[in-house]
Amino acid sequence: MVVDAALEVERRLPSKVEPDYDRLSELKPFDEPKTGVKGLVDTGIGKVPRIFIHEPESFDRKYGRGSPDLVVPVVDLEGVADDLVRRKLIVDQVRNASEEWGFFPVINHGVPEEIMQEMIAGAIRFFDQDREIKKALYTRDTIKKVVHNSNFDLYQSLAADWRDNMYCLLAPSPPSYEEIPAACRDIMLEYQKQVTKVGLLLFELQSEALGLKPSHLKDIDSAEGLAMLLNYYPPCPEPDLTMGTSKHQDDYFLTALLQDQIGGLQALYKDQWVDVPPVAGALVINIGDLLQLISNDQFKSVEHRALASRVGPRISVASFFTTYMQPSSKIYGPIKELLSENNPAKYRETTVRDYTYYFNMKGLDGTSALPHFRL
Ligand code: OGA
Ligand code: NI
Repeated sequence: MVVDAALEVERRLPSKVEPDYDRLSELKPFDEPKTGVKGLVDTGIGKVPRIFIHEPESFDRKYGRGSPDLVVPVVDLEGVADDLVRRKLIVDQVRNASEEWGFFPVINHGVPEEIMQEMIAGAIRFFDQDREIKKALYTRDTIKKVVHNSNFDLYQSLAADWRDNMYCLLAPSPPSYEEIPAACRDIMLEYQKQVTKVGLLLFELQSEALGLKPSHLKDIDSAEGLAMLLNYYPPCPEPDLTMGTSKHQDDYFLTALLQDQIGGLQALYKDQWVDVPPVAGALVINIGDLLQLISNDQFKSVEHRALASRVGPRISVASFFTTYMQPSSKIYGPIKELLSENNPAKYRETTVRDYTYYFNMKGLDGTSALPHFRL
């Protein structure tokens, strides 16, 4: 963050300007019109309203806005299905990336380029459509399978993020075809098929990387649920004062992220923010908390964030392998085969729903949900 912007944050930070500032009274007028951040930008707003201004610590001035000399490893999946030598190499790369970085773009994953492009176009169609149609879907009811809102944690977080979302729980029991927004339903369903195959392949490679039989993670239903989150980051007039997505860890097994060419995603690596730049044709894979939990900390769910930008809208589509808040009695804990006297279980058992519930209650407050489940 440049010094001027840091001073501007100090100058306009709500808690400094007006210590008894009633945040709720400013959140409601933002939330109630149900038009999101895009609604603000559409009015031609030239300044970031104070509910969006983040504490200077959010920007980690200590580390700047990204370390240009560190590069997230890209894993090339070419040949993974039919070349045993390549497969072993890929498994080693996946293990290394999952243990060290928790984050790695994959290329040659099999999802056709046209489908990825059309998925991004579908997301733009959703957010650009008539606002009355979007308003009908705007809700904070997390049990619904189709949810549109801005800042799922608006009423818990210290500062709001510069983004709008549409979330759809597509598996294991999808909403009806009519319930999925018409602007993007066909492509969401097609993309879902494709990204599920990628997820299944990754779970196979990760099972092998953990020394388990290839079907282990699939057999325990890690790929049973799929939630798709469309992220819409409108152009921001003062990107140094706010965030696209505050730093967080994903609370799922695995995420496959499709991003457009704008960039802004960063992952925390050894206390430094590292850019995860758009790579042509790539999907960014990252480990979620539940995979860290069941791998007993062998794989890392790392903190990441998305910067706000003057350029936009930026689109990303996150596919989360999770059954989210759907009722399920399936219990997850550290995988028994990985445990030994030297590697005792570090976490208690939980269900996906209980984990998700705790995560959502906490919101993106900059801390991890994992310690709550640690033994
Ligand atoms: C997420 C996320 C990053 C991005 O949706 O969980 O981390 O670049 N998104 O949009
Ligand atoms: Ni995330």
